[in-house]
Amino acid sequence: MDLTVKNFPIFLLVLLLLPLLASCNEKQVYIVYLGEHSGEKTYNEIEENHHSYLFSVKETVEDAKSSLIYSYKSSINGFAALLTPDEAFKLSEIEEVLSVLRSQSTKYSLQTTRSWEFSGLQQLQGSKGFQLKEDLLLKSRYGQNVIVGMLDSGVWPESKSFSDEGMRPYPSSWKGICQSGDAFNSSNCNKKIIGARYYIKGYEAHYGPLNRTLDYRSPRDKDGHGTHTASTVGGRRVQNVSALGGFARGTASGGASLIRLAIYKVCWAMPGRGKEEGNTCFMEDMLAAMDDAIGDGVDVLSISIGRKDPVSFNEDGIAIGALHAIKKNIVVACSAGNFGPEPATLSNTAPWIITVGASSIDRKFLAPIVLGNGMKIEGQTVTPYKMEKKMYQLVYAAQIVNADVPKNISGQCLPGSLSPNAAKGKIVLCLHWNGTRVGKGWEVKRAGGIGFILGDSRTSGAELVADAHILPATGVNYKNALKILNYIHSTKTPMAYIVPATTELESKPAPFMASFTSRGPSTVSPNILKPDITAPGLNILAAWSEASSPTKLDQDHRVVKYNILSGTSMSCPHIGATSALLKAIHPSWSSAAIRSALITSAELNNNLGKPITDAFGKPADPFQFGSGHFRPTKAADPGLVYDASYMDYLLFLCSIGIKNLDSSFKCPIKPPFPSNLNYPSLAIPKLNGTSTVERRVTNVGSSKSVYFVKVKPPPGFSVKVSPSILFFNHIGQRKTFTITVKANKVNKGMGKDKYAFGWYTWFDGIHNVQSPIAVSVA
Ligand SMILES: *[C@@H]1O[C@H](CO)[C@@H](O)[C@H](O)[C@H]1NC(C)=O
Ligand SMILES: *[C@@H]1O[C@H](CO)[C@@H](O)[C@H](O)[C@H]1NC(C)=O
Ligand SMILES: *[C@@H]1O[C@H](CO)[C@@H](O)[C@H](O)[C@H]1NC(C)=O
Ligand SMILES: *[C@@H]1O[C@H](CO)[C@@H](O)[C@H](O)[C@H]1NC(C)=O
Ligand SMILES: *[C@@H]1O[C@H](CO)[C@@H](O)[C@H](O)[C@H]1NC(C)=O
Ligand SMILES: *[C@@H]1O[C@H](CO)[C@@H](O)[C@H](O)[C@H]1NC(C)=O
Repeated sequence: MDLTVKNFPIFLLVLLLLPLLASCNEKQVYIVYLGEHSGEKTYNEIEENHHSYLFSVKETVEDAKSSLIYSYKSSINGFAALLTPDEAFKLSEIEEVLSVLRSQSTKYSLQTTRSWEFSGLQQLQGSKGFQLKEDLLLKSRYGQNVIVGMLDSGVWPESKSFSDEGMRPYPSSWKGICQSGDAFNSSNCNKKIIGARYYIKGYEAHYGPLNRTLDYRSPRDKDGHGTHTASTVGGRRVQNVSALGGFARGTASGGASLIRLAIYKVCWAMPGRGKEEGNTCFMEDMLAAMDDAIGDGVDVLSISIGRKDPVSFNEDGIAIGALHAIKKNIVVACSAGNFGPEPATLSNTAPWIITVGASSIDRKFLAPIVLGNGMKIEGQTVTPYKMEKKMYQLVYAAQIVNADVPKNISGQCLPGSLSPNAAKGKIVLCLHWNGTRVGKGWEVKRAGGIGFILGDSRTSGAELVADAHILPATGVNYKNALKILNYIHSTKTPMAYIVPATTELESKPAPFMASFTSRGPSTVSPNILKPDITAPGLNILAAWSEASSPTKLDQDHRVVKYNILSGTSMSCPHIGATSALLKAIHPSWSSAAIRSALITSAELNNNLGKPITDAFGKPADPFQFGSGHFRPTKAADPGLVYDASYMDYLLFLCSIGIKNLDSSFKCPIKPPFPSNLNYPSLAIPKLNGTSTVERRVTNVGSSKSVYFVKVKPPPGFSVKVSPSILFFNHIGQRKTFTITVKANKVNKGMGKDKYAFGWYTWFDGIHNVQSPIAVSVA
């Protein structure tokens, strides 16, 4: 609550200080946020209105007109303009202006972990974790009437995953366009990709005109990420696709093959940086895209973009845009972030967003190492290259570095660090901490190495990201890297052989939580339990841009049609696709009902029937997986849902002190307790004694039903749900109940900010409507 009350003056203070810090003439992009559109206005009237604000601070009419970058017209009322700090401050003082936000470069980026980009092709099978039951697909008619908007790096439209063969015309409600640009015109849209636009004005205001060798000035994807996420949501079934050298064959398929895709390209290559080092997405560009997506008529938005330093919801472009989307009942799914395993690292935690964590699937790409002493060590890779079957000399990178390489990074195989002669004909062990994974492989190859072993860092646990290195290679976890190091130091003639990769299916345990997946609690609103759910995000296969190599390294000239990536970027589209199917099956459900169905039906066990673990084999908790692993079929029939309206979110915002997102809404003098938002999970931070919250469930199962409550209180707390039985006699009927959480006396000694987790579940013999609880003591 204090957060925003304090934040607002700080924000003004920053604006006041800025003129002192920067020259008064230095212009930057600011977003001037006006909330809602009032009355029926034409687009021209709206733009004129936005100009009039600019006239009030600019010297001339021309100045005012030329400074306008975007005029948000569909749902969001506001504009982006080039302003001096002084002008921005003046605008912020106008009564109708709800806030003025300064655009910041490099804050938002796509959520594949930098240095985890990898690729290649071994086995083109859809991820096992995402095989949808045929009946669910049939009921949803494969999502053919649902439109999913993708905010990402664009699309490679020629991919077979986006073929529209046999598809019916798209819904007549669609109002989007197919925007032309570099190597892209309206012929690139079809009945699968029904819209494509790009947003670059914010990027160009910051970096200057786009360098067209870095990216296409059009919806075409030069990165690969956007093609990957779009095909995960709605790629067609593509059979007998062959990969690098034609050695891998199989079927690739997205979540729901008839879903329509609308592409909004908002993320771009960064000048002066390698593509493998990431990309950037500007807030003003994303807001323009979301505003258009709302006006175009998308049903779901899938956004695999986040930021490392989360800000309050009224300063976060994704949260603001998503709130407008929710008003039109659009489901918004976002990636939780890749900043784990540290706690409190989540992005996108607004309660109107579905926040998606990442976990493994039951497939491995096994490429073990045989050491000279006969020991066999587990490794994984998707490199297509093999070594001749014999033993090779094995060295640790630090033994063969150039003389000028500092000792503390000598094992890292950073660019230029290896001495060429010493690596010739050998297998080199490199450790991962700094630099990109695939870049280390390149360095070994450059230095003449014949094979490469990548030892993961300690924080990755047992998780192994499978890379498509550009030479025979494999990756091992930290413990195994130490074993290999010990072996190297134990003998005068260390030898090894890397066995070519094979695919292992139904590997166990699966899923486990990826070590990189960001963890709760939400630093922005700890009263909402986040993330909401987990979905496959480790070693995910999907379509790729043919203008980007599988590793994205400049030196890599391979072209692939499919690629394997890891990140919450990959898990988010799984939830985007599932939301689309739920929307097709239950067209009248609100976005909150769809999220509730996903959350309360999630799975807590792995394929060994044991609780889902983290990458170290320890039981994972709701700050990693939310309510658990998604189960699309169960989510289609959840029994009860926790609904919430746009008004409920505004009330929640009042309760955390945010009043400036919708000018038409006046906060009550005594706003409710923030944990009272009708959310399908419960978080109470800093509980002092006892707290009681209210929840409301809506019957969407059988008309007559009786639900009983089961409670598993967090250790050290007691939880009472009242009433403990709910009777329903028609569909749509609502029942309210309270949850009282009490800290036991012993808890007085429990550490500050230390959370305990529990559950409560409503069950009627058919449905288990399960909600996680997270509590910490004051
Ligand atoms: C789009 O571009 C392609 C290739 O340049 C061209 O063949 C086609 O005619 C163009 N389509 C339209 C509608 O301009
Ligand atoms: C554009 O990018 C390419 C590739 O990084 C670089 O070689 C070139 O110098 C850049 N051009 C400009 C004008 O910056
Ligand atoms: C798969 O494609 C290859 C050529 O790319 C062809 O030789 C093979 O017969 C195909 N297999 C099937 C089952 O269609
Ligand atoms: C390595 O050591 C140098 C000083 O010798 C230091 O500047 C640098 O930050 C260290 N790097 C790491 C990764 O610890
Ligand atoms: C990582 O390596 C880059 C150069 O590759 C260097 O600039 C940076 O300081 C390094 N970071 C650490 C933590 O050593
Ligand atoms: C907890 O509540 C008690 C009484 O309601 C109050 O005296 C105490 O200051 C509170 N403690 C904290 C840490 O807020």
